Amino acid sequence: MKILVTGGTGYIGSHTVVELQQKGFEVIIVDALFNSRIEVLDAIEKISGTRPEFESFDLADRRLTDEFFSRHHDIKGIIHFAAHKAVGESVEQPIKYYRNNLDSLMNILESMTKYNIPNLVFSSSCTVYGQPDAEHLPVSEKAPIKKAESPYGNTKQIAEEIISESINAYKGLNAIALRYFNPVGAHDSAMIGELPLGVPNNLMPYITQTAYGIRECLKVFGSDYPTHDGTPIRDYIHIMDLAKAHVVAIERMINAKMKKSFEIFNLGTGTGYSVLDVIKSFEKVSGLKLNYEIVGRRAGDIEMVWADPTFSNDELGWKAERCLDDMTSSAWKWEQTYRKNS
Ligand code: UD1
Repeated sequence: MKILVTGGTGYIGSHTVVELQQKGFEVIIVDALFNSRIEVLDAIEKISGTRPEFESFDLADRRLTDEFFSRHHDIKGIIHFAAHKAVGESVEQPIKYYRNNLDSLMNILESMTKYNIPNLVFSSSCTVYGQPDAEHLPVSEKAPIKKAESPYGNTKQIAEEIISESINAYKGLNAIALRYFNPVGAHDSAMIGELPLGVPNNLMPYITQTAYGIRECLKVFGSDYPTHDGTPIRDYIHIMDLAKAHVVAIERMINAKMKKSFEIFNLGTGTGYSVLDVIKSFEKVSGLKLNYEIVGRRAGDIEMVWADPTFSNDELGWKAERCLDDMTSSAWKWEQTYRKNS
């Protein structure tokens, strides 16, 4: 059973590829390598024993996408990760984000109808909820969608609409959108993990790079939020738990277990942690003292959000199993292994 994983050399993509292979799926990756490295294929092969098929081109190119699908008639499902994802950059270059993230999705949907590929798993984000009102915390899939804070967030909202409308219009199409909370951590082997290019925007790689001495000091953005220690709260989820959810989702589609042709699931643990909670966990598992300072709030940051994963737990039969210490320790192991080998 062959699955196409777009963006399969990226952070979430690479972990999902390994999980798919270990469940017996054959994987073909399409990745333009805009924000990832070809060496990830070697790491995947080392972990799973199988090198996935790989093609490098831009899925936003309609002709190349059609040509790809015209050559691959055996794809039974698509997990579509390939997208730009830097929130700040999307504010500076919105067209780059709309063009890439939406053109690639539309090209894939068009090819799915043309070549009769029924199943799509789409990478969405908890960013669609914005800052939920107190009555919607923890946030379930039924919480209202808020106006997006950035072009990046807007591409995720529009993408869900494009998928929903396409499914209504074209019979035989099914999709599952997975709304991720904050994915962190790395594979147990420490051979794959998060590899931000340049200065990291996200908390966990900033912590591990600071501890390794690549960054001087972590800036904690704000300590005057209405939370237990004043720093913002997120639902951090281990990348391995997240990867497993994708396999469950594609199997649900293939085994015709869907209740309707477009389903949406939250992927979170259900527990929120503050920035200082994450730092404390990191210091505990690493035995190091992290150099950090508290500075002003970061523009656009929300105060607190964590998932209500009940619907995912009940319907998918999936549950995040790894705790915060597993997340920080695997991220730290990955950072050290990667730096030693490069
Ligand atoms: C961001 C994106 C979100 C994306 C997610 C995962 C925004 C508004 N949202 O979420 O769309 O899905 O990344 O890629 O950017 N922090 C620090 N110092 C740092 C970095 C972060 O204190 O150097 C704090 C932030 O203020 C926040 C928490 O750590 O409270 C998590 O930040 P981050 O990892 O960037 O994720 P989000 O902002 O939640």
